[in-house]
Amino acid sequence: MPDFPAGFRWGVSTSAYQIEGATTVDGRGPSIWDTFAHEAGRIVDGSTGDQACDHYHRHAEDTALLAGLGVSAYRFSIAWPRVQPTGTGPANTAGLDFYDRLVDGLLAAGIDPVATLFHWDLPQPLEDAGGWLHRDTAARFAEYADLTATRLGDRVKLWITLNEPFIHMTLGYGIGTHAPGRALLFDAFPAAHHQLLGHGLAVAALRARTASPVAIANNYSPVRQVGDTDADRAAAQAYDALHNRLFTDPLLGRGYPDAPGLDPAVIRDGDLDVLAAPIDVLGVNYYNPTGVRAPEEGSPLPFEMVPLDGYPRTAFDWPVAPDGLRELLRQLHHRYGDALPPVQVTESGCAYDDAPDAQGRVDDPERIAYLDGHVRAMREAMAEGVPVTGYFVWSLLDNWEWAEGFTKRFGLVHVDYPTQRRTPKSSYAWFRDLVRR
Ligand code: FCB
Repeated sequence: MPDFPAGFRWGVSTSAYQIEGATTVDGRGPSIWDTFAHEAGRIVDGSTGDQACDHYHRHAEDTALLAGLGVSAYRFSIAWPRVQPTGTGPANTAGLDFYDRLVDGLLAAGIDPVATLFHWDLPQPLEDAGGWLHRDTAARFAEYADLTATRLGDRVKLWITLNEPFIHMTLGYGIGTHAPGRALLFDAFPAAHHQLLGHGLAVAALRARTASPVAIANNYSPVRQVGDTDADRAAAQAYDALHNRLFTDPLLGRGYPDAPGLDPAVIRDGDLDVLAAPIDVLGVNYYNPTGVRAPEEGSPLPFEMVPLDGYPRTAFDWPVAPDGLRELLRQLHHRYGDALPPVQVTESGCAYDDAPDAQGRVDDPERIAYLDGHVRAMREAMAEGVPVTGYFVWSLLDNWEWAEGFTKRFGLVHVDYPTQRRTPKSSYAWFRDLVRR
């Protein structure tokens, strides 16, 4: 493995609803994921995040696992319905107390707390009022950011406003396989604009309360055009605009790209200035490239997504393509030039069907190979001049993987859900050794 610059940030990521459990404790209100997971047929194994990894009660044990890993940063998310149980009004002190304990535990272990404000768990009452389709949700988000930073702004080392607004818009409002389960296709665009507006307003709220840097974590997927007709090219461009540019161009001062579904009537005067508030770091979540070609006639979509041949696949059936990470980092650098802030890879990881052997050990050589390939690809992009300053593995723990429930294991640490026993996998030792070097 090549050397990394001093001060490079190595970390792991998690999110609140996927690990915390304790969904009715200390005044927490319901989120859209509580509602969605409890609806029949939404989650493949019929499970919910009611208990998840019980991290709410086991955070000290999990902080010890982080300390053993030797990471310099831990990216977690804050559950909005713990801070504001109905999404409006004063802070729920007991909810913030939990994050206060977590943050202090991390700092005592020498680990930088990196907090994401929104990883998809919107308070249910806000969804009842229209969720992210409703412009007011952006203002509510800034208010929540203010309350949270008032309590934690002196200790969180990097703030991330939103996690993957593209995935939340597409799966949550576009096709409905995620909460809140709306299937509006391209009429979901207001959920894009209002998330971005909320981001911009939250950046301003955070700046007023903290001197720590501020970021957003976007999902990116380099597009592999399949076929070479003009129609295939147009399809690849449309998909790229939607997935890779819609949530980045306006943040970096370029305004919206020409993306399918974009509805100018949703955008008010002055909004683009709010969105373009400078950020200090761009968070990049990368899992795989996407194959795209022209759609069949009569398709409601301007593109068709096609499986990419020739790659090994994870248990999620996602192609293992480290070269895609290098390509994507180069592309961001090329596209935005000097407007690109330093990048941190805020999620990178893979699911495999890991299980303990007869001795209780969990050996996951595929995950080691996956991470090794992606870290090397990132390092190559850095050598070519892309400003990358951190890398976070998704995830510390096996956890509740949204619509896939407990069926997909992404952790460096295996979790036996009935007993909540944590067992570091061989990838945990591999990552620890990498960080140490
Ligand atoms: C990302 C999400 C994260 C997890 C990984 C596998 O899209 O941000 O919560 O589900 O995928």
